[in-house]
Amino acid sequence: MAAAAVMEQGAEQFRGQARLPQFAAPRRYDLRLAPDLAACTFAGSVAVSLGVSAPTRFLVLNAAELDVAPGAVSFAPQDSDKVLQPVEVTNVPEDEILIIRFNEELPLGEGTLAIAFQGTLNDKMHGFYRSVYELNGEKKNMAVTQFEPADARRCFPCWDEPSFKAVFKITLEVPSENIALSNMPVVEEKVNGSTKIVYFQESPIMSTYLVAVIVGIFDYVEAFTTDGTRVRVYTQVGKSAQGKFALEVAVKTLILFKDYFAVPYPLPKMDMIAIPDFASGAMENYGLVTYRETALLFDEKHSAAANKQRVAVVVAHELAHQWFGNLVTMEWWTHLWLNEGFATWVSYLAADQFFPEWNVWTQFLEESTTGFKLDALAGSHPIEVDINHVDQIDEIFDAISYRKGASVIRMLQSYLGAEIFQKSLAAYIKRFAYSNAKTEDLWAALEEGSGEPVRTLMHSWTKQQGYPVINVKLTNGKLQLDQTQFLSSGSTGVGQWVVPITLCCCSYSRQEKFLFHGKQGDFNLSGLMECQKKDGFWIKLNANQTSFYRVSYDEELASRLRYAIETNKLSASDRYGVLDDTYALCMAGKQKLVSLLHLIAAYKDETEYTVLAHAISTSLNIAEMMAVAAPEELGNLKKFLIDFLEPFAKKLGWDAKSGEGHLNALLRGTLFTALAELGHEATINEAVRRFNVFLEDRETPLLPPDVRKAAYVALMQTVNKSNKAGYESLLKIYRETDLSQEKVRVLGSLASSPDPDVVREALDLILSPEVRNQDAIFVLRGVSSGAQEVAWQWLKENWDYITESFSGTLLTYFVTITVSPLATDEKGDEAEEFFKSRTKANIARTVKQSIERVRINAKWVKSTKGEADLGNVLKALAHKH
Ligand code: BES
Ligand code: ZN
Repeated sequence: MAAAAVMEQGAEQFRGQARLPQFAAPRRYDLRLAPDLAACTFAGSVAVSLGVSAPTRFLVLNAAELDVAPGAVSFAPQDSDKVLQPVEVTNVPEDEILIIRFNEELPLGEGTLAIAFQGTLNDKMHGFYRSVYELNGEKKNMAVTQFEPADARRCFPCWDEPSFKAVFKITLEVPSENIALSNMPVVEEKVNGSTKIVYFQESPIMSTYLVAVIVGIFDYVEAFTTDGTRVRVYTQVGKSAQGKFALEVAVKTLILFKDYFAVPYPLPKMDMIAIPDFASGAMENYGLVTYRETALLFDEKHSAAANKQRVAVVVAHELAHQWFGNLVTMEWWTHLWLNEGFATWVSYLAADQFFPEWNVWTQFLEESTTGFKLDALAGSHPIEVDINHVDQIDEIFDAISYRKGASVIRMLQSYLGAEIFQKSLAAYIKRFAYSNAKTEDLWAALEEGSGEPVRTLMHSWTKQQGYPVINVKLTNGKLQLDQTQFLSSGSTGVGQWVVPITLCCCSYSRQEKFLFHGKQGDFNLSGLMECQKKDGFWIKLNANQTSFYRVSYDEELASRLRYAIETNKLSASDRYGVLDDTYALCMAGKQKLVSLLHLIAAYKDETEYTVLAHAISTSLNIAEMMAVAAPEELGNLKKFLIDFLEPFAKKLGWDAKSGEGHLNALLRGTLFTALAELGHEATINEAVRRFNVFLEDRETPLLPPDVRKAAYVALMQTVNKSNKAGYESLLKIYRETDLSQEKVRVLGSLASSPDPDVVREALDLILSPEVRNQDAIFVLRGVSSGAQEVAWQWLKENWDYITESFSGTLLTYFVTITVSPLATDEKGDEAEEFFKSRTKANIARTVKQSIERVRINAKWVKSTKGEADLGNVLKALAHKH
């Protein structure tokens, strides 16, 4: 910034800016905090050593919801005995900044800004907040921080942007019986009667969003890595055994990533802790990672296989951030995807190493699918997204940053090869350690390491939104490809990509690989002619689904692929891909529903969990749409789907076979839940029988954790407003368990009754103190497919309460979950009307995307109504047996 401009203008110039001015930058924070856990307030003081690099009479930094008395601010230039008092301290709430004006120019060079302040330990799960737990039957408060993306400013005045890295020296004043934790180890504790002062070691330079402080009473388990890093898992008192699994995973992961990134874990310790009230799944604070209980704790008896996998993946994800994010940090939120996309991708790499039998790379395809779905909207955004206001940041912690981000990294890794990819990454980490980086910097490192045109290739994926569908035709032995942007609405976008094409022909032993740049191209592939002569000839593009595009085959090739699936010629990932692409094309009106239904039938001998689970969720989505489009056909559709699923259920059974694998455990839950939702009587009866035993004896082997959710959902199918016993029994289980994963299983099933009145009652429970705000979304997600309108009505009625009580990603989930499933244009209009006056910057993107989804559903409903042969085909499918 021009020095003269800074001098002459007043404080006005700093308002309404996307970023803080650069003329002063922090080097070191000496931060002292004294939370009052009973009164839910805190007092604090901070001394910031900073460098002034251009003449100014102002210091501008972030602060929000803090009381800063004008007399409590001073600036002491180094090498001078003077202490400057400001003439004015202005708090600008809408920009969350503090403008400190002095009546003389600050000397260039170092100085110390001292500020004393006060704040509230809020109940919003961000900034410095309180979480409630029980100790010996008594309710207690703990004090916790959650700063990402931009809430450190709610705890202490600071330069709250990722590129202003500084050293932190933290001191806490807390009640003596509490444990005080922060990023670094304790250097000294001074007890003074009922309070103690805890001094922490100074941190390496780091961003404000990674600072953390926790005060409460906990137990822990501890282990050391082979490098001597101390790792602990803190839990509620009495629950430390539940921390053992995460501890084991963490110890292994720290060593794996040290090797992978070729840089040791930079801090002396790693603490991980379960927080009872937590907005997201987990947070990678440097050296003090916080988690939801469900994402950290594992109970040998009462946690399910899905819970175990979740813990492993989340731990790996957060520990990946210790390098990718914490050591090397994005320069600005535009590059958030570097953090999240990368951590997501590498968490699968870790999980695959530790648990190869989980086939996590096949499961990864669900990540890609979620990315595909969001990115097929006109209202999507590029991976690298402009961020001009703090309110816009929360919304980009979305499927584009995480899942498309992870998917394009996977695509690049498989294009470049694992070894080159890893070496280049290690070089990147080394080059930008203790510093910040942009997307460009990563591409540069990979381009150097590989000699491939990484920038050109990747720009087309990260700087423009959307992705292509490759249309494939085979004529006279020539392969014709063309690419168009895929949109779920069925319109054609204008995007073009550099697409790494991989192609298999009749076998996986030889793959064709090339970059497809243009709009169209003809390819004379050697071997194609020969292969074409074979019986059962097939071609599959995007071999093993490692790239982020869809494929649409001509009719002949599509039917050959279906045959290849029936005869078990394709890999699990490719079986998944063919189904997912066909489903997406069908929804966009590019293929008929009847061909999708025929394709589903081709999976009758499916053996892979992820593929069958995807066939199940696809089927349930079709049923939901059909309930609107052609309710009279629903009976036949359900019969077809039940006939399809029943043999799997018979084979698998309710009871685990001894020594049986993880994926069977996952499948059992998914399969029985689906059958219950489809109203399969045998499933419902068996579930109710087992449930009743469980209700009397929570240790019964008849209802192991893997099938509990299925049983709860099945039970709820029998509940209506005049017979609510099942609902009450579930509430009893909810109230009696002290395991979060159990609570979530119950919450997720309460609204799954087909009776709208029961659904309403379940939704109202969200508003009661009995459900923690962090868990509200589970009830919403469980709303039965017939009751979507009830949920929408309920949302409108309670909107004021919801916006007052929820913020950040939790608030956006309310909108997505309730609006997106609606499927008529009337509902779309209604939603538009409702949000017209209620959309603030923090939900604008979500509202737009959700309404677009309604329009797409409505279109799919209409095109389904137009499928003349649907009734006959369904009848035939339903009566095949
Ligand atoms: N950095 C995020 C936590 C976060 C999310 C902070 C949203 C602020 C807003 C963390 O690393 C994360 O990504 N957590 C995930 C879990 C992960 C396994 C995908 C989450 O919270 O869901
Ligand atoms: Zn993350």
